[in-house]
Amino acid sequence: KMDEFVSSLMQKMTIEEKIGQLTLQVAGDITTGSVQSSPVTERIAAGRMGGVFNVKGAGKIRQLQDIAVKQTRLGIPLLVGMDVVHGYETIFPIPLAMSCSWDTLAIERSARIAAKEASADGINWTYSPMVDISMDARWGRVAEGSGEDPYLGSCIARAMVRGYQGDYSGKADIMACVKHFALYGAVEAGKDYNTVDMSRMRMYNRYFPPYRAAVDAGAGSFMTSFNLVDGIPATGNRWLLTDVLRKQWGFDGFVVTDYESLMEMTRHGVGDLASVSVQALKAGTDMEMCSEGFYKTLGQSLKDGRVSTDDIDRACRRVLEAKYKLGLFADPYKYCDESRHATDVYTAENRAEARELAAKTFVLLKNEGGLLPLKKQGKIALIGPLADNAANLCGTWCVAYTPERYSTLRQGLERAVGGKATVLYAQGCNLTRDAALQKAAEFGRTIPRGDDEAMKAEALRVAAGADVIVCAMGECSDMTGESSSRVDLELPDVQRELLAELLKLGKPVVLLNFSGRPTVMTWEQARVPAIMNVWFGGSEAADAICDVLFGDRVPSGKLTMTMPQAVGQIPLYYNHMSTGRPVPEGIKSYRKYQSNYLDVRNDPLYPFGYGLSYTTFKYSEPRLSADSMAVDGSVKVSVDVTNTGERDADEVVQLYIRDLVAKISRPVKELKGFSRVHIKAGETRTVEFTIVPDMLKYYDSELNYGLDAGEFTVMTGPDSRRVKGCKLTVY
Ligand code: IFM
Repeated sequence: KMDEFVSSLMQKMTIEEKIGQLTLQVAGDITTGSVQSSPVTERIAAGRMGGVFNVKGAGKIRQLQDIAVKQTRLGIPLLVGMDVVHGYETIFPIPLAMSCSWDTLAIERSARIAAKEASADGINWTYSPMVDISMDARWGRVAEGSGEDPYLGSCIARAMVRGYQGDYSGKADIMACVKHFALYGAVEAGKDYNTVDMSRMRMYNRYFPPYRAAVDAGAGSFMTSFNLVDGIPATGNRWLLTDVLRKQWGFDGFVVTDYESLMEMTRHGVGDLASVSVQALKAGTDMEMCSEGFYKTLGQSLKDGRVSTDDIDRACRRVLEAKYKLGLFADPYKYCDESRHATDVYTAENRAEARELAAKTFVLLKNEGGLLPLKKQGKIALIGPLADNAANLCGTWCVAYTPERYSTLRQGLERAVGGKATVLYAQGCNLTRDAALQKAAEFGRTIPRGDDEAMKAEALRVAAGADVIVCAMGECSDMTGESSSRVDLELPDVQRELLAELLKLGKPVVLLNFSGRPTVMTWEQARVPAIMNVWFGGSEAADAICDVLFGDRVPSGKLTMTMPQAVGQIPLYYNHMSTGRPVPEGIKSYRKYQSNYLDVRNDPLYPFGYGLSYTTFKYSEPRLSADSMAVDGSVKVSVDVTNTGERDADEVVQLYIRDLVAKISRPVKELKGFSRVHIKAGETRTVEFTIVPDMLKYYDSELNYGLDAGEFTVMTGPDSRRVKGCKLTVY
């Protein structure tokens, strides 16, 4: 039916109208790139626009849809996109934080809620999920992804696509756009938009799985990445967009460029706008965002014989099919119900879900002497530049947010103690000493600037009168995200100095570390008794932080990116190769002629999968249902996990496997399963995983996918470091 409908529509379309469908422009005031596109409404009225983005509000969107539907010859409705990356007005934690919950059902619900809110405001297409694997904390965009692991990343990619899209039938089902295809997370030196160069084997084994998982989950669209893949810009890379994405993986949706990617291809040095437009279209790009390369040059390229009608038709068909799948031809105003805003957006129910998920994302890094949870009593000094600012709780990419309605941590704390304790407050310092850096890092979410010395004196005076000091420090939201790469990942200078002075007061100090990436906490780990990474927890972060701070909830987040001891260790990731000169287990000092550094041990400060709780867990040795399995068989592994503390709590039990001998060198361990379980104090739960051949397979250097018979180590544990293993023979 869809085929027939689209074919018959395309028969009526002129070539200009078809090229128009391949054009996507900004139509509102939200800024997510460096150019604003030109005369949008005129182009819509001329039937020469496929979609718009960055418009907020069902009313405004209805007006644009009205032009497309009522003023054009064929009345083709618009795709209306937006970066609804971790919530719409109810903001969920940044994706990196959400991944630390390891709770794929909750993440799916967050995407569902985001879709419900966005669709209530007229959006039918979101530029999410961002599934780029990254092992480089310098890259600001790690905040938007699910960390360093392809298996976990794949589970989350599937969950988010399901959450956004449903089956497209409901008014709250919107189309996902998986980004950025591909390998954007591997930019050299973590510098945004930089070069990427890697072996295909590495692509397939480490970077491709989440994109592919999203295809398998039925993602409707993909966005290309800014970087090169094999020396060719992704947007013009036929191998990537056609051979891999469509032929190998069976993707049947449409591909859109990132912002101005065609223009960027000219800067990559592969041709002028007309040539790169031809290249991109032929490679498999269907729609282009903001460069106007398709719009301005494809007509002439057709006349010149550089593209064929078939090339244009193929892309046009895919865009029209997306509109069909969304039900826009049946009802162009499906997403323009202005009454929904009041009932569906930023509701108590949505906020409760965001608060609950946020609490699951916080990672307790250290808790000496059980300092946390705090009691609601006495005097609590809240100090730091992030303590009284709601916008900076939300993190990057929350373009539709309404921070004036969200609570600051200070407000949340006052509400939480409810008069049982006194909250004292001082900002204490600027974000950084460098005013220019602070300005560059703030994108409209300003933290007040003051005199460092005067602020410090005030903070020390306030803290001196308190029983406990809670520091709200770290990065501000815009020190992370797009175009926010950094080389210094330590706590900013002036904050570290204030923290040092506060520690000298000799009182209990809790550090709430705000960040959109793994930061370097070596100094803090050595000195601060309690540290909790709270990322950017979203619109409900203030309450969620207090829930955990006071023990109404038990922390259960576990890191999905390794936290290094020093920036120089980056890229640092748990699933690394052995090398020919590995440092033997248990060696704590530098070894000549081994793969290590003179000045820092190979260990991370906190490994992948790490996170403490208010209780403790004891793990048994893993047990296999059989010591061996056939190459096409399966075996079960189980582990007993006992809650040895006094609080009921959730624990994320992890399964890792190492392929000991293979055709190619294989990682020292790879995550192959996880289970988030609730275990009552004193209770033992047996967690079971089934090992199937797919978990043991990999791509070799010829890109054959398979497994080798032989020995494997199966490991279970609370994180990637503290694992216990047993041998499995595959025959
Ligand atoms: O979706 C984003 C992308 O992640 C980065 N460039 C701009 C796009 C649209 O806002």
